[in-house]
Amino acid sequence: MFKRIYVFSASLRIWHWINFITIIVLFFTGLYIGTPYFTTSVGYEATYAYDKNLTMGFIRFLHFSAGYVLLFSFLFRIYIAFFGKRDRMFIPKFWTIEYWQGVKETSQEYLLIKEHRPMLRNPLARTSYFLVYLMIFFMIATGFGMYGLSDPDGFWASVFGWAVWSLGGEFEAHYWHHIVAWLIILFFVFHVYFVSREDFTHKNGEVSSMFNGVKFFRKEPIDINDVK
Ligand code: HEM
Ligand code: HEM
Repeated sequence: MFKRIYVFSASLRIWHWINFITIIVLFFTGLYIGTPYFTTSVGYEATYAYDKNLTMGFIRFLHFSAGYVLLFSFLFRIYIAFFGKRDRMFIPKFWTIEYWQGVKETSQEYLLIKEHRPMLRNPLARTSYFLVYLMIFFMIATGFGMYGLSDPDGFWASVFGWAVWSLGGEFEAHYWHHIVAWLIILFFVFHVYFVSREDFTHKNGEVSSMFNGVKFFRKEPIDINDVK
């Protein structure tokens, strides 16, 4: 017999998929901004590229539009962290024994040494999510910081201008914005591997949980959120 547990609220699931689509759009348009390849490898002359809307102006428009979506969905995520029932943004409790016990058990399972106890959310996954939230915030701050450079007295420069100068300037902001873009994609690859793997090995509906909100357990799972 399986016990069905409702883990992810509709708000969190909607946020997750909007976030996913936005990041994919931002990543590919961002790579183009960094290295405008259409006119070379694909072989379009500037005139024909313009005809096909493959212009830097249009790609930047897509990047900034997706940037606004990322910003507002992030604000929405913070809102539900305070007002949603289960949606808080997890800060890993490094100082507790239970946290490290969970890390040990999860690592053993990932290394195919021993299966871990049933867990609602495992501490390694939750730690990586915490880092992802930080990276998303970093991308928003540096992105809007760079966006505000064209209008130094404008709104975006006053809100996120610090992100550019605190890194050392425009070049460094571009550089780190680019590096963290790849780190997010690195997370994405591991993330899809681990959620699929959890689904294969535990048959607990892990992947579909981000669509329908529920996971299945044979025994009462440990809830890392409740670890004091
Ligand atoms: C996960 C989210 C994001 C990813 C993966 C991403 C990716 C990238 C990449 C790879 C570049 C090229 C950097 C370079 O090599 O110079 C770039 C540039 C840029 N991004 Fe993002 N970005 C993200 C979020 C944002 C956000 C939220 C904004 C805010 C509007 C933004 C604004 C910019 C700006 C202004 C540039 C420079 C444009 C230019 O120089 O013409 N990005 N982005
Ligand atoms: C850029 C792409 C992605 C990002 C940034 C991302 C980010 C996240 C984050 C931050 C969480 C934790 C939410 C929370 O509880 O606070 C999460 C959970 C989850 N995501 Fe993704 N995700 C991405 C793509 C995907 C894809 C493509 C899949 C489908 C295979 C997926 C499946 C899941 C599942 C099943 C969970 C719940 C896992 C658990 O219980 O720990 N994600 N994702």
